[in-house]
Amino acid sequence: MDKKSLRKKHIQLMKSFMLNEYEKQQADQFLANQFFNTNEYRAASRIGIVLSMPHEVNTYTMIQQMIDDGKQVFVPETNYQLREMSFKHIDDLKHIGKDDKGINHVNTNTEISSDLDLLVVPGVVFNNDGFRIGYGGGYFDKFLSTYHQPTLSLIYDFQLNDFQVETHDQPVEKLIIATTR
Ligand SMILES: Nc1ncnc2c1ncn2[C@@H]1O[C@H](COP(=O)(O)OP(=O)(O)OP(=O)(O)O)[C@@H](O)[C@H]1O
Ligand SMILES: [Mg+2]
Repeated sequence: MDKKSLRKKHIQLMKSFMLNEYEKQQADQFLANQFFNTNEYRAASRIGIVLSMPHEVNTYTMIQQMIDDGKQVFVPETNYQLREMSFKHIDDLKHIGKDDKGINHVNTNTEISSDLDLLVVPGVVFNNDGFRIGYGGGYFDKFLSTYHQPTLSLIYDFQLNDFQVETHDQPVEKLIIATTR
């Protein structure tokens, strides 16, 4: 299957799993627990992570815990004209609104930066080497090829699938995988 078909198929799988609210909550809780127990998390002070969409691993409770732990948390701030993504400091979950494309972002005037010491990378499909298929914008590939920091992804087991990696694709260093039924 080509990338585009795999992306479509696995977004559908994620959306089906989302309807299974209890199972998803259990998996998300497992992934959060694993994440908070990593040395990567303990060592990091500036952490990048997305504001999750409903079919993705819920990051909102994770972000709250990170803030409570005294971490500086950053979420994507996208310049769609320049096709570039940087990160913006989120100091309170209340300070979230929609950007130009209707994607949640920080709507207050906080630090914008690409200087992170840990990045939790989103994605749709992952292979066993940590290569990923995202949503097709190339935003994370571009960011990861420019800025180097420890990376990891939190995924459901059904997101694992082999695929033909392209030269511009950037892998993540570590996968934390939740078993689902
Ligand atoms: N470092 C880069 N510089 C410029 N363009 C890039 C770079 N990396 C990827 N792209 C472009 O982005 C487009 C989308 O790439 P791809 O299909 O791999 O996206 P993706 O991995 O699903 O998205 P994302 O990285 O945002 O999760 C491709 O046309 C690719 O050429
Ligand atoms: Mg890619």
